[in-house]
Amino acid sequence: MTRWFDNENPGLRQFWQPVARSDDLDGDGPHPVRLLGVDYVLARLTRGWTLFPAACPHRLAPLTAGEIVDDMLQCAYHGWCFAGDGTCVRIPAIGAEATIPPSAHLPTAARVEERYGLVWVALDEPLAPIPENPEWEDDAFGLAVIPTQTWNASAAQMADNFLDVAHFPFTHLGTIGDPDDVEVADFTVTRDDWSFGSVHHHSSKVLADATAGETTEFETFDRTMTFRCTAPHHVRLHIDYGIDGNLVLLFFHQPVDRDSTTLYCVALAENIATGQMKPEEHIAFQAAVGREDRQLLEQLVVKAVPLDPGVETHTRADKTTVELRRLLNDIAALVET
Ligand code: FES
Ligand SMILES: [Fe+2]
Repeated sequence: MTRWFDNENPGLRQFWQPVARSDDLDGDGPHPVRLLGVDYVLARLTRGWTLFPAACPHRLAPLTAGEIVDDMLQCAYHGWCFAGDGTCVRIPAIGAEATIPPSAHLPTAARVEERYGLVWVALDEPLAPIPENPEWEDDAFGLAVIPTQTWNASAAQMADNFLDVAHFPFTHLGTIGDPDDVEVADFTVTRDDWSFGSVHHHSSKVLADATAGETTEFETFDRTMTFRCTAPHHVRLHIDYGIDGNLVLLFFHQPVDRDSTTLYCVALAENIATGQMKPEEHIAFQAAVGREDRQLLEQLVVKAVPLDPGVETHTRADKTTVELRRLLNDIAALVET
């Protein structure tokens, strides 16, 4: 039977996933979160953000209806209170001296952190760190935040797309694709524990032409693209435009459920810091590129990537995305018996 990697693979529990943009969280919660096909609530207590299960262990009332009281998450139904480590510390109906049953305590996510303007969660102790992106704190780079989107595709399929250079001249004719640059020059892929990378030299349209919607005549120029994918499927693309500076695109994925993925994408660009380009211009351009990818990916019927190599046909141009399949295989193997 063919093995597939989808957004509910239990191996994903051992890696970091973003679950919200910090700026979108209005107050300390509880806020609803859906991850790997399961509902949770996110609440901020003195110790920081905690990810709790969505249902109260008493009568399964939704904890989104609760509130934060005395640095505890209090259920709205009978007032049971949970500390930031998930411990049930108060059941009002049985009095302060009564013994709290062990099943009243809630399992919480192993780790929660804020990074890159996002709240990140590792449901179990993570095997790989949140990816490093030093440009985030580098004043030479300016930030453009692409609006959060949820696609009808799996995170592995989206990472597969963002790591793939052979589709540019076909899927991206309206933006970055150069129809005269279809052959992928040879490149190497290097694996490093729970991440891998590749470097490509490639030709691209001039950005200004693409944003103006020119698709018939345009200038092209050479650029170097350095990809890094960190488990489970976070993609970093560093583009060196030579004398025109550097651009870093970060694609972070929240596997919401089997068929949908929330994409958090930011551009870090030297030409924003220098004032040559406005963040809004980058946002409009990346949104246009993303629409082309989304339009294609949402047509894929199966929302998963096959783990058995015989299901798809691979060529030398696909070495990066073949490595992604090896990485996904290793994640799936963590929980397969
Ligand atoms: S259902 Fe939550 S306290 Fe009863
Ligand atoms: Fe693409």
